[in-house]
Amino acid sequence: MKTTSQNLEETHDLAERFVHEIVLECAEEKQKEAMVIGLYGDLGSGKTSFVQGIGNALKVKENIISPTFIIQKRYNIPKPDSPFKHLIHIDTYRLEGDHEMKDIKWDELISDPTNLIVMEWASKVEGVMPKHTKKIFFTFIDENTREIEW
Ligand SMILES: Nc1ncnc2c1ncn2[C@@H]1O[C@H](COP(=O)(O)OP(=O)(O)OP(=O)(O)O)[C@@H](O)[C@H]1O
Ligand SMILES: [Mg+2]
Repeated sequence: MKTTSQNLEETHDLAERFVHEIVLECAEEKQKEAMVIGLYGDLGSGKTSFVQGIGNALKVKENIISPTFIIQKRYNIPKPDSPFKHLIHIDTYRLEGDHEMKDIKWDELISDPTNLIVMEWASKVEGVMPKHTKKIFFTFIDENTREIEW
């Protein structure tokens, strides 16, 4: 799927559509590990905004903020029919490489099938991304336009 978003709201709507797709996928095939989503794209291309849309779709109560400085943030997913119970939002922008993922207990995170893990700057730690990672690409077109592809 490749499309353009003209504003924040459209990006949130696209994220909802994405959530709908992955939830359907989970219903067809039971996951044995976490669902991992890698977000790729430049600064300001809309990655965090997309994660906010994912949070909205899954009825996360807290405001989702950029985890650039805290690396990782975990949110409860209260939606009773959701296959995921936790949204784990990670931003590796400040990490130096794969070895630092041990500090955030990456192996534990990816082995829990109730985790939906969304990772900004996945390209920084490509070596630890599971084979089944889904990738979403963000491109800054102009002030309000973003291309989003998955
Ligand atoms: N169509 C759009 N979709 C998403 N964000 C948009 C759009 N148009 C304008 N924006 C603005 O662009 C910015 C996107 O910032 P966001 O934090 O989501 O980017 P990011 O890819 O997470 O950046 P970083 O790499 O720094 O974490 C926000 O300020 C948002 O309001
Ligand atoms: Mg961000």
